Formats: sequence, C-alpha cells, structure tokens
Amino acid sequence: MTMRLDQVVPFGRSFDEYVRMFALDAVDLGRSILGVADGPASFNAEGSAKGIRIQSCDPLYAFGADEIRDRFYAVIDNIITQIENTPNNWVWSYHKSAADLRKNRIKVTERFYADYETGKAAGRYLFGELPNLSYEANSFSLSLCSHFLFLYSAQLDLEFHLKAITEMLRISQEARLFPLLTLDQKKSPHLLPVVGHFQSRGYQCEIEKVAYELQPGGNEMLKISRL
Ligand SMILES: C[S@@+](CC[C@H](N)C(=O)[O-])C[C@H]1O[C@@H](n2cnc3c(N)ncnc32)[C@H](O)[C@@H]1O
Repeated sequence: MTMRLDQVVPFGRSFDEYVRMFALDAVDLGRSILGVADGPASFNAEGSAKGIRIQSCDPLYAFGADEIRDRFYAVIDNIITQIENTPNNWVWSYHKSAADLRKNRIKVTERFYADYETGKAAGRYLFGELPNLSYEANSFSLSLCSHFLFLYSAQLDLEFHLKAITEMLRISQEARLFPLLTLDQKKSPHLLPVVGHFQSRGYQCEIEKVAYELQPGGNEMLKISRL
C-alpha cells in the first residue's frame, strides 16, 4: 500500500525515550537493533552517534527529509492543541507539559532531519512496511516497535498484528513492543490473543513495567523471545 504523506502524523521519540519505553540496558544496547516503524524518531540518529548498531525501517522513508519535516510542522500545532484540550488524558512526569512535549518533539524531528539523508545513504533508514519486511532471517538480535502495533488496534486487526510480530521474530531473536494501549487509552484488545498465540508456539512472552508513561497506564512493554 502506498503511504500518503498528508495522512501521516510524523511524531518521533528520542533515544532516551526508547531506552525507557523498552527498558534497554547496556547489554541490549550492545545488540544489533532494528527499529520497526521508526518514523522520525531520533533513536537511530542519537544511538548511531554513540556507536550502537541500529537500523530503522518505515514506509515514511519513501519520502525525503524536507517532505517529512514539512509534514511534521504542518501538523504539530493541531496535535498539541488537542493535547492541551485533554489535560487529564496525559501523565506529565517525563514531559512536563504540552508546551514541553512540543519542544521535545521539535528537538527529535530536527535531530532526525540532520541525520536522515546520511543515514539513508549508509543503509540505516530503509523503506519497510509491515507485515512484510525485506531483511534476511535472523538479521538482528532485537527488534523494537514503538507507537504503531497495539496503539492502532482500531485500524489494524489481530491478523495484521500476528503477521507483523511473526515477521519481527523472523528477522530478530526478540521483539519488544510499546505501548500496549490503544489511541483511546484502553488496553489493546489484541494483547492477550497475541500473547496466547506466541506462547502456544513456544515463545516466551513477558509484560514488563517500564519507566515511561505519557498515556495514563501506558507504562508496560511486551517482550517476545524465542526460547
Ligand atoms: C506514531 S509513529 C511512531 C514513530 C516511532 N516509532 C516513535 O515512536 O517515535 C508511527 C509510525 O508507523 C509507521 N507506519 C505506518 N504504517 C506502517 C507499516 N505498515 N509498517 C511499518 N510502519 C508503519 C508510520 O510511518 C509512522 O512513522
């Protein structure tokens, strides 16, 4: 399916947010990592600068740096206004306010923007659309998916989730997913069926509390690994 940029909200998170959302420790950061649906996150830009082996894939990478950045600035004020109008829907512990969130998202976008064309030329940003990715089996030790699976449960059905996570586990030994809530802040209806599916196929599934929460109750991450 061809992605239309005018339908995308290219909001990205930082390296520090990824470390918290996925409880990444020093051992994890020594592994080869694939960020799936990484969009304009600055995890890759910041992590690669620290010498961490990170690749990212996203259908957004069909577009150029200026197009992605322009789209971000076209939508940011509307999103922040929606957040300001729903103050009780957010936990202001990491980001201190809607204005702070806006500032942090701009910083991430600019960090991504500065790295994107160089990183693309180096193969660190590759077009890739779940549920089928072009990587060879076992290309990575760890794959991460932030703010795509589970979050869009109303738009993406259980079958899509199962295929997408099976694909992440084909190309990596372990998959981590965050958050486990939907856009309307409810536990994803796909979570328990996903866990049951992979457990019954011999995978280890763990739901872990993490040190990051912006959606109330959205401080859990799912880890699935081959036994
Ligand atoms: C809300 S953003 C999250 C970006 C990043 N992971 C983060 O947390 O900062 C969701 C991302 O999912 C990407 N996406 C949409 N459809 C996808 C698909 N079929 N496969 C992979 N990524 C997809 C979008 O392009 C977008 O970059």
